[in-house]
Order: sequence, then structure tokens, then C-alpha cells
Amino acid sequence: MTYYVTTPIYYVNSTPHIGHAYTTIAADILARHYRQRGEDTFFLTGVDEHASSVARVAAEQGLEPKDYADRILGAWQEVPRRVNATNDFFIRTSDDGHKAFVQDFLQRIYDAGDVYEGIYAGWYCIRCEAFKTEAELVDGACAIHETTPEWIEEQNWFFRLSAYQDRLLALYDQRPDFVVPSFRYNEARSFIAGGLQDFSISRAGQPWGVPIPWNPDQVAYVWADALVNYLSALTYARRGEDLRPRFWPAVRHLLGKDILRFHCVYWPALLLSAGYDVPHQLFVHGWLLLDDRKISKSLGNVIDPLDLVEVYGADAVRFWSIRSVSFGQDGSVSIESLHERYERELANDLGNLLSRTTAMIARYLDGDLPARPTSDSPVRDLLDGLSADVAKRFDDYDLTGALERIWEVVRGLNRVVEGQAPWKLAEDETRRDDLEQTLYDLADGLRAVAVALASFLPETSSRIQAALAGDPAESSWDEVAYGRTTARSGIVAASPLFPRIDSPTTAA
Ligand code: MSP
Repeated sequence: MTYYVTTPIYYVNSTPHIGHAYTTIAADILARHYRQRGEDTFFLTGVDEHASSVARVAAEQGLEPKDYADRILGAWQEVPRRVNATNDFFIRTSDDGHKAFVQDFLQRIYDAGDVYEGIYAGWYCIRCEAFKTEAELVDGACAIHETTPEWIEEQNWFFRLSAYQDRLLALYDQRPDFVVPSFRYNEARSFIAGGLQDFSISRAGQPWGVPIPWNPDQVAYVWADALVNYLSALTYARRGEDLRPRFWPAVRHLLGKDILRFHCVYWPALLLSAGYDVPHQLFVHGWLLLDDRKISKSLGNVIDPLDLVEVYGADAVRFWSIRSVSFGQDGSVSIESLHERYERELANDLGNLLSRTTAMIARYLDGDLPARPTSDSPVRDLLDGLSADVAKRFDDYDLTGALERIWEVVRGLNRVVEGQAPWKLAEDETRRDDLEQTLYDLADGLRAVAVALASFLPETSSRIQAALAGDPAESSWDEVAYGRTTARSGIVAASPLFPRIDSPTTAA
């Protein structure tokens, strides 16, 4: 199987916040997991540069949009790097390869007879980069950004979305898991069923963007340019190689609920028009909220992901963002909740388990662990079904559930420590077998947990494997099973995986 996963490409009109890092982290966890399962995987993220809001911010700073974008690019490239994401490519919509592809794509829908010229007039929210109907406004303002939209009236090129209503409905009926979770599928389907309006795919008033091939005085509407990145990247990410046959349409798009229509309605219609297959699946996630409001630059309530990573490390931030909000739902986050989970779950549940286990192996067995899997073991029972259960949850995008399923085992291993009390077994020479057995089981359980956690906590996973004198490279998914630990020597008491951090704070 092939597995191609994407994040939305982020607007560069301001700097990143935790809401952006969130999708990148989730996509990375999926990509790493499917790689572990041996799938041919490709992971794409990047930035969306041709927004009117980008041109506006650049002008405010006295810069050409491209110069502005070049300057802020580093801050965005830093996000995947700092959260330890393994993206295979980072796309910029100002890449020549992308721009050429967009022109070809638009020409295809033009040649298909789906484009006509018309006048558009309406309220436009520059932050959404979308026209708003009167019904969508709250007291005259955009409901998401709480800003007043602008009245725009211009001669544009329109895409005949209305002509795709039946084909989209047929697609949704044939593929009930085209959009997940199902309540998002229903939302998209009822939007389509409610009747589709043609939309403008060009802008006349500004030069920043990809020129329309048959009318170069106009540029592509930012969404007609941005969505195409998912396909264009495959044509030039690897020099001299066209990755489309390999990865299209095996794509899974991750996106926030605010951009559902563009992805679940416009994008498949544009693809059908241009003669491409529609995506395999779209997963729509919720928002991270702070004080019940979306974290967003325009609302001014941002948490800088890089500050958090600086203090708590990438793994802790990855852990917290997936664990504190059920993936797919909205949920509130706070730095206090990160701190609390760091101490209670990472440092205590997992960190102490490793410290205690390795310290006991060092002390009671001189660091030498004999290989002795057994049929009658509480750890065997704990690990039973783990691999299949976690894989199933991943297949359902239930990242939060997958992590909780692994954590059940972590808690179970802690109970084994307490229940077997190896320190008591060590006092009794005649119970040497039981002691070795228990310590083997704990080490093996930790090893299996480390492999299962590798996509969530990549650094921690390697450190656990190394502390158990194992090979971090042995992390293919079939290692998530009891009894794979071989005889090992030289195990010493491990240093804390998650050292104490004083107060819930970000770097000053
Ligand atoms: N550029 C468009 C996407 C084009 S994709 C072809 C865009 N960019 S964005 O930077 O505004 O948002 C990108 C993603 O970040 C969206 O999926 C959005 O939902 C997500 N998030 C932004 N703030 C968020 C939270 N507070 N919480 C979770 N995700 C949020 O839209």
C-alpha cells in the first residue's frame, strides 16, 4: 500500500502558532506510523504565499510580497524541524515547479469548458480568503476572525462548480468514508446537496499570484492555486521523477474544520474537471481553543510552538497536543495542562518505569538480561492485542485513542512492578528465576511500548531502546509483540527521560 499524507499549506502572513504545529504533528505521527508498517509513504507540508493578506502585510512593511515571503519563510520551515517532523518535502507556492503546474491545471479546467467570465460582487474576508454570504456574517463581521469583510466587485473567471453537484453527490454516496469523521462527511454532503454556486478562480485587482494562462493580467485566486499544491509537489519534489503514479490518488489530506468546503467540495470538483482522480480520503480535525476561542493570530491569543518545544522538548509537545484533545474534536489547551501531563504521565508513568526497570536490572542482574520469554506472563497478557488495536485506531485517524491504548500498557507495566515487587524477590536467593523473569518481562514490555510509541515520541522511543541496550532501528511494527527482546548486557540505570521542569512557563 502507499500512504501519502498532507497538511494544509500555511499562510505566511504572520508567524506560526501552536494551531499550525498541531496539524504538522498529527501528519508526522501518521507518516511515521505507516512507515513502521512498511508502507511506501510520502509526507508533504509547506506554505501558501499568494494570499491577498500576504501582499497586504508585505506592503505594510514596505516590501515586495516575494521578499517578505522569503524573509518569513525560515520561521515556517522551523516548525516541522522543531517538532521533529519527517516531511519528505516542503512546498512553497512561489516555487517555479508549482506555478507552472497550476497554470497547466487551470488550463485543463478551461479546456474542459468549466470556466467562464463574469462579475463578482460580495463581502470578502481577507483572512479566510473567501466570499461570505450575508447569512454567514455575525453583526456584519466574519464569524471566525471577528473582522469586517470588504466589499469586492470585479470581472473574474468563474469555475462552474454548480455543474459538479450530481457528480459530487454520487462520489459521496459511493464512498461513505471519503470524509472523516462522519459528522464532517455529513456537513460536506449537505453543503453539496444544498446547491452549489460557481466561484471565481481569478483576481483582477492585484499582481501577486500565478498568472491566469489565457488572461495573464489576472492571477489565480489563492485557493485555486493553493489546493493544487498537493498534486504539483509530486511532479518536482524529486528531481527528474514524477511521483504522481506512485502517490496519487493515495492521498490523505488533513485539515482544520475552517477549510472543509475548499477541500471537501471545491477540490474534488476541480480535480474531476482537470481529469484527475479525487483524493483517497480527507480527515477534518477540530480547533485548539484557549479560553474557548480558536487560537489565532487575528484573535491575538497565540502560543508559540517553538517556545514550548524549547522548554518541554518536541516529544512532550507532540504528546500533549494529541493527548489533551481528542483528534477530530475541538478542545481547550493550556500550558498548565502541558506541564501537568509532562510530570504525571511522561516523567512519572513512563520515565520512572524506565528508571526503575533499568536500575533493578543493573543492581540485581549486574546489567545482564537473559532472554526468557514465557507463556505465563502478565506482560504477555498486557501486550496481547496491542499491535492490532493501535493499528486499527490509526486506520481510523484516532490518534488520541491509539495513544491511550498504549498508555493502558504503560500503566499496566507499572502495576506489574508494584505487584511483583522485584526488590523483594531479590532478597530471596531461591526466587532468582522469578526475579529474572519479572525483569525480563518489564524490559520487554518497555521495548514493545517504545516501538508502539515511536511515531508519537520519536526521541523518547530511541532513548528507551538504547537504555535497554537494544537497537533503536528495530522498530518495525511487528516488533510490537511480547518476547522479542534478546539477551542483553551492559544495562545501566537510565538517566531521567523527562527531567523536572520548574514551573508552567514558556521561555521568557
Ligand atoms: N492557506 C490555507 C490552507 C491552504 S491548503 C491548500 C490556510 N492556512 S492557515 O494558515 O490559515 O491555516 C492552516 C491550518 O491550520 C488549517 O487547517 C487550520 O484549521 C489550522 N489551524 C489554525 N489555527 C488552528 C487552531 N487554533 N487549532 C487547530 N488548527 C488550526 O487556511
